[in-house]
Amino acid sequence: MIIYKSAEEIEQIRRSNRVVAQVLSELRDMIQPGVETLELNRYAEKRARELGAIPAFKGYRGYPASLCTSINEEIVHGIPSKRTLRAGDIISLDFGAVIDGFYGDAAVTFAVGDITPTARKLISVVEESFYKGLEKAVPGNRISDISAAVQTYVESFGFAVIRSFVGHGIGFSLHEEPQVPNFGEPGHGPKIKPGMVLAVEPMISIGDWDVEILTDNWTAVTKDRSLSAHYEHTIAVTAKGPEILSQRAEDEDVVRTKEFVHA
Ligand code: MF3
Ligand code: CO
Repeated sequence: MIIYKSAEEIEQIRRSNRVVAQVLSELRDMIQPGVETLELNRYAEKRARELGAIPAFKGYRGYPASLCTSINEEIVHGIPSKRTLRAGDIISLDFGAVIDGFYGDAAVTFAVGDITPTARKLISVVEESFYKGLEKAVPGNRISDISAAVQTYVESFGFAVIRSFVGHGIGFSLHEEPQVPNFGEPGHGPKIKPGMVLAVEPMISIGDWDVEILTDNWTAVTKDRSLSAHYEHTIAVTAKGPEILSQRAEDEDVVRTKEFVHA
């Protein structure tokens, strides 16, 4: 069942998403060689609480941390550890927060020091593919119009779209219906309507899309161990079109301009 949100509920969901955006933005400044991923996790948890939110991932289906830190061939759900970042790595940080029962969720992939041109391209393509999907998140379209736009864009660069993880409805819980795959033919799935709140999250790789789960039962890696990147925002569909909720208040005008450019 898809739960549509009122304008007031969307504002509540925006509050937790602003915290997510703020935390991810501060984490970006901590990304450098030598940093332990557990240190990033501790910071995210502390900052979210200072900002009045509760980390949403900790304890979710037994997930042991507040942040997901997925390095290189790790796609999603990398568990923070004593592992330290090295120059040339890429790391996806995925964070969720909840305020008064309203959930936010976003992810971004960062470069650690200098990275290869291919890694840079992978990161920019995953971000841009999100915006290709976002353009399709308009009332009257169907969910798979988002999926197809992401897939077409990503594959035009010879990269692969991960298929075993999908975006999702979000708001009253971390994961709600509908599922939002990053691949598929356009014109299928639920009709996109005002009041839908979705986490759109392309995950892509340089090689193949097959996935393997490590023995920690969480970390998802590419089977061929090729480099993978991830980008996610929580968005709300309004009568006027989609709006990104997981951005800091001061970035909202900037990103609206970007949305406009892409629309
Ligand atoms: N952002 C991810 C998702 O949407 C991660 C949540 S899974 C968790 O599925 F277990 F780590 F919380
Ligand atoms: Co998500």
